[in-house]
Amino acid sequence: MAIHSQWCQSLVEIFGEPPITYMNTQILIDTTSKLVADDKGLLAMDESNPTCDKRFAKLNIPQTVESRRAYRELIVTAPGLGESISGAILYDETIRQNMKDGTPFLKVLTDAGIIPGIKVDTGAKDLAAHPGEKITEGLDGLRERLQEYFQMGARFAKWRAVIAIGDEIPSRSCLEANAHALARYAALCQEAGLVPIVEPEVLMDGAHALEQCRRVTEETLRNVFIQLNCQRVLLEGMILKPNMVLPGLACPTQESVDKVANITVKSLWRTVPAAVPGIAFLSGGQSAELASARLNTMNLRFKSRLPWALAFSYARAIQQPALEIWQGKETNVKAAQQALLHRAKCNRAARRGEYTAAMEKI
Ligand code: G3H
Repeated sequence: MAIHSQWCQSLVEIFGEPPITYMNTQILIDTTSKLVADDKGLLAMDESNPTCDKRFAKLNIPQTVESRRAYRELIVTAPGLGESISGAILYDETIRQNMKDGTPFLKVLTDAGIIPGIKVDTGAKDLAAHPGEKITEGLDGLRERLQEYFQMGARFAKWRAVIAIGDEIPSRSCLEANAHALARYAALCQEAGLVPIVEPEVLMDGAHALEQCRRVTEETLRNVFIQLNCQRVLLEGMILKPNMVLPGLACPTQESVDKVANITVKSLWRTVPAAVPGIAFLSGGQSAELASARLNTMNLRFKSRLPWALAFSYARAIQQPALEIWQGKETNVKAAQQALLHRAKCNRAARRGEYTAAMEKI
């Protein structure tokens, strides 16, 4: 943690202050450093109510406020979660919820050494005049919402843009509109003292080949960094949350872990400035094991040569096995917590390049 902070400080000595010196510059750099420190990663538990309910429905878990609360209690109380998880991304409903005994989730997390974060976009909506494409909304009133979340104890935030691959898409206008919104969000976060997690997700849906995902991912990231610079976002005080470069789920050619790791790092190398401290991947529908294996290979092969930390910010790839065990039943809580902790540990090992398939047999 301190190393990155000192490193940023020495850059300031060499290059001078960044273009805008927020009152919060040091806070942002410190929070960012903590989020990527010690080979830990982020746990995304920020499913909106409709998404959470959809996942519950598949497992016949009641789709109620109390079910969602009980499930999130299971997660935040998993013993030792803070050994692998540096930050947890919450949803507006969750950040206001308490344990059954009345203790706020925010207190449970901070006592466990986990920094609370908050999803602040209001979802991806159809982009007018662009069939099949989405624009993420949520900028209206965002400044005030960020101030409230900061006062509650959140120290970072997340905004997800979705980019679909298909015939003639993504369009330039979709890439630019989403990049612009991400940058406006990121600047507002930094003004409020919250580290922005910038998430432009190129979706895995479709039959596209690896090469097409590479082209779209690089184009997306180029647009994102043009806009981040334009909006004067402090790169040293943000985290990028991209997809890995992968063939579409319906593509007949599924590539090896090595190939995915190589092409993903190459694309990031070409597009992400060295000033960004950390890249924390989303899992996007990969299996939990593949998400760990691919991250592991990237770190094993390239860690010592990269300017940014390669970390994780998974939702499904950490939570799904636990959710399937839990099934909404109190008697399954302990086993579900074990499954959650196992995935968190596998991904921490992947950050060190020490994950092996043998870890899955324990
Ligand atoms: O916005 C999406 C989540 O933060 C990451 O979810 O790992 O299931 O793709 P995922």
